[in-house]
This record gives sequence, C-alpha cells and structure tokens, in this order.
Amino acid sequence: MSATATPRAEQDRRFMQLALHVAKRILGQTAPNPAVGAVIADETTGEVIARGWTQVSGRPHAEAHALAMADGRGHGKTMYVTLEPCSYHGRTYSRVGKKLPCAEAILAAGLRRVVVATEDPNPEIAGNGIAVLRGAGVAVDIGVCRDEARWLAAGHILRMTAHRPFVQLKIAVSGDGLIAPGEGAPVWVTGPDVRAYAHILRAHADAVMVGRRTVEDDDPDLTCRLPGLANRSPRRVILDSSFRLPPTLKMFQTVHRVPVILFGTEGHKPPKYPTGVETRTVAPAADGRLDLQAVLKSLADDGVTRVLVEAGPTIAAAFVEADLADEVVIGRGTEILGPSGRKPFVDHGLELLDDKSRWHCITDRKLSGDRLTVYRRTNRFGSTPSP
Ligand SMILES: NC(=O)c1ccc[n+]([C@@H]2O[C@H](COP(=O)([O-])OP(=O)(O)OC[C@H]3O[C@@H](n4cnc5c(N)ncnc54)[C@H](OP(=O)(O)O)[C@@H]3O)[C@@H](O)[C@H]2O)c1
Repeated sequence: MSATATPRAEQDRRFMQLALHVAKRILGQTAPNPAVGAVIADETTGEVIARGWTQVSGRPHAEAHALAMADGRGHGKTMYVTLEPCSYHGRTYSRVGKKLPCAEAILAAGLRRVVVATEDPNPEIAGNGIAVLRGAGVAVDIGVCRDEARWLAAGHILRMTAHRPFVQLKIAVSGDGLIAPGEGAPVWVTGPDVRAYAHILRAHADAVMVGRRTVEDDDPDLTCRLPGLANRSPRRVILDSSFRLPPTLKMFQTVHRVPVILFGTEGHKPPKYPTGVETRTVAPAADGRLDLQAVLKSLADDGVTRVLVEAGPTIAAAFVEADLADEVVIGRGTEILGPSGRKPFVDHGLELLDDKSRWHCITDRKLSGDRLTVYRRTNRFGSTPSP
C-alpha cells in the first residue's frame, strides 16, 4: 500500500485492477464495442460477489454480465467498472429480460456505489451514464486507475475522438537492434516465446496490417496459430498502393475463414483476386502512397478498434512520422546481424524510442532468452507517463 493511500482508496484500486484484468482477456473479441470489465464487491467484507466482462461481439455489456452473475446479490454493494456505464436505450441486456441501459440496470439492481475508471467519450454517453446514477442518489467516484483504463479502451476512445483505431506496431529485432529481411518466408530473430506472444497480440487485435514488401518477401499467413486460439485470427490488411501483389498469395488460401482487405490508391485497378478478397481505394497522400489516416478511418468505419501493424521498416517509419502509432512492441533476440540487418525505422534505429517527449517505456523484461519492451506514445490521452 502506498504511504498516502487510504485503506478505501487502496481497496478501490485493487478491485479496479481486477476489473481491468478481466477486461484484458477479451481484447480483440468485442469490436465495435470496447472490452470492459466490471466487478461487484462488498466493501465491508472485501468479498468479490461477481465479475463481468463485455461478451463476444460487444453484447451484453460488462455491467449487465456482472449483474447477471451477481444474481440479485449486488443490492447495497459497489460496482467497479473500467468505463462509464451506458445510458442510451439500445440492444443492452438485463437479467430480467428488459433492454435497460447499464446505468438503469445498476439502479434496478440497487447498487449503492459505482466506481468508474474513466468517462466514455461516445457522444451518446459522454457523462450521461454518470449523471443518471448520481441523479438517482448512487455515489459515483471517477478516475481510479484512469490511465490504465484509457489505454485498455484506447481503440474505442480513438475511434470516437479521432475516427481511427488504436495502432500497435510490432517489430522483432536482433541483438544489435536490426531487422532481418525475409527470404520467401519470415526470418526469425527471436525465440518461440516472443513469437507466441506476437500471436497473442494478433488475437487481441481486430485487424493485422502489413506493407506490400513484407508480403513480397515473407508471403505470410498472418493468422493466429496458438493452440485453442485459431478462431481468434483478426482480418488481414495489406497496404499496396498500386495493387502490385499477385493473386497467388498464401494468405488468400484461407480468405474464406479469415478476411483479407487490400488497400490501394484511387485510380489503380486491382488484378482479379480470388473470391472473397476485398479491395478498397483511398486518396493518395502527398508522396503518392496510401494516406494512412484514410486507411485507418475506413477500418474504423467498419468497427475496427485495434490494429496490429507487423511493421517492416518503411511502414514503421510511416506510422511514426504520421504520429499514428500509439504503442510499439519490440521483441529482441540475441543474434547479431551486423551489415545484413536493416534499421527498424529506415533511417533510425531503436534510439528513436528514447525520446521521452514522445515515447515512454511501460514494460522491459526478459522473455526466455529474449527481451520484450513496450513503449507508449507520451501524452496520447493527456496522461502522465508512468515513472
Ligand atoms: N522483424 C519484423 O518484425 C518484421 C516485420 C515485418 C516485416 N519485416 C521485414 O521487413 C521487410 C519489409 O520491409 P520494407 O520496409 O521493405 O517494406 P514494408 O514496410 O513491408 O512495406 C513497404 C511498402 O508498403 C507500401 N505502402 C503503402 N502505403 C504506404 C505508406 N503510406 N507509407 C509507406 N509505405 C506504404 C509501399 O509500397 P507501394 O508504394 O507499392 O504501396 C512500401 O514500399 C521484409 O523483408 C520483412 O521480412 C520484419
């Protein structure tokens, strides 16, 4: 416990951490809705009465799920929820079968206090959920674990406020911080555990994206191939301004199971791709390549909230230069590539991420013999970086 935290503040933080934890497990399964967690607890005894999370495809919401799990035992108790409860009448579910917004379902269940990690910027909610609860006499506290909750809901928040999904770059580098160019298939510079972690990142995304040259060099499949998670493969997105890629790509073989979308610039005609492969065009940027913001908006319009970019150096540099990368995940092996390696951001190596005004490191740990480091864009949500 921190020296300044009161026992109640510390207990609030612990229950909210639990709510965040349950929400993290369903990242990548709730789009277009955010992955939210809710815990109903007895503050006096410290007992957890129920845990709830957003269900697959986004409904029922976490609060409705937690109330159903509590089965009437939430009366007079406290709910901890990672995002403001909704207040509009939609497809929301409640235990008694009525389609109540979550704020009203909480009132109907007789909860005494609600602790909210962060407000929902969705214009249909935007403070109304909190107002409904307070208006009915429920005590509401806001801001417990706010930073963490914002990063958890980053895809939803950015989709609502910037018309784009959350963008996570994933880059595997050698011991000397360089990229190994593919040779008809990906070249592994990290061990099996970092590679398995990369598949978890795919499972937590709504779309996985690569540039044209990665497809040419590696011919990747881009599916999630972890045991038991094969059905968690997100749609695959290729950036290929002039539709130069051939119709024979490996990933087209599984398009009936996992969608593929190719983005090109307006005026370019795609070749005849296999049935099921989707092509879209957007306006070119000043350099004639794809306007990345337009690509992201097109995906956000489909409900995509989280994009994992498996970034070759050109695409990595383009996202960072456009300030469209929110998180960078670096898996670092031990092999030394020397002159055969490429800098991960074309003209810049990993030192680019040392600029504290733009990036802060949230994780730096060993994973088997390799290293896993995660950086977040500083002040993306006006928040203070972790020390
Ligand atoms: N170690 C890793 O984690 C990792 C991950 C991925 C890839 N790789 C390796 O990286 C290599 C490929 O990297 P790369 O730098 O050569 O190419 P890349 O980043 O895979 O793709 C770059 C291409 O994307 C297209 N593109 C479309 N819109 C763009 C935009 N707005 N900005 C920039 N590019 C845009 C461009 O081709 P058009 O102009 O034709 O559209 C560009 O040449 C491969 O050898 C692969 O094995 C390594």
